[in-house]
Amino acid sequence: MNSLREGYIGAKKAGQTLVCLTAYDYPAARLLDESGVDLILVGDSLGMVVLGYPDTTEVTLDDMLHHTRAVARGVERATVVADLPKGAYHDPSSALVNARALISAGADAVKLEGGRSQAGTISALVEQDIPVLAHIGMLPQQIREEGGYKIKGRTPQQADRLEEDAAAVEMAGAFGVVLELVTPPLAEKISKTLAIPTIGIGSGMGCDGQIRVLHDVIGLYPWFRPRFVEPKADVAGEIRRAVESFAAEVRNKAVS
Ligand code: KIV
Repeated sequence: MNSLREGYIGAKKAGQTLVCLTAYDYPAARLLDESGVDLILVGDSLGMVVLGYPDTTEVTLDDMLHHTRAVARGVERATVVADLPKGAYHDPSSALVNARALISAGADAVKLEGGRSQAGTISALVEQDIPVLAHIGMLPQQIREEGGYKIKGRTPQQADRLEEDAAAVEMAGAFGVVLELVTPPLAEKISKTLAIPTIGIGSGMGCDGQIRVLHDVIGLYPWFRPRFVEPKADVAGEIRRAVESFAAEVRNKAVS
């Protein structure tokens, strides 16, 4: 078992609740690391909150490499996980080449979306000493096929499939699993069953940790905020206030 996985299983056994946030650049990553965040995800959510796309599906491996390098420069302590973008893990061998590139860019681990269907790819990466964070439930890279962000696990059939997905990614060697928009009772049940930690997003309080998009938590993307996020700051409002104040001073010839 790789040591990162051992550490995460140990943290779960010890009852530690994991604090996980996304970051896409050096200053944010450094601030998160200095604030004691356990895991920093260079998420392909950067497609929306940094690059201005409608969803994550157009993010490229080059985008991910660029942002992973910036984040890695700012982190000394937290685990840095980089998303394999859509299209970068069609099969185990392309996943391996692309995951190695993300590790060379400074990630400690990679994340990919999918359960049973990705178990072979997860094992192939783990066998080559690349730690993997799995991601099941709502899969943002499938948003166009799904037609929206829908809660998963509502029917008994869906719940059974999700439990099988969770067991499959653990068996394949993932060190943790993100549960996105999974019904809270099912997320809690999966969390109690697995040895690896579950990291929830919109999946209730029964997970072993929580992950959020940084921009949602600090109020830096005011044009869209998921229902389950309660912002802790209004950074967009602060930027507008500071820029308006600067602009007024410039226009009044008060800035030299
Ligand atoms: O890309 C992302 O930010 C994610 C989430 C789990 C937050 O996958």
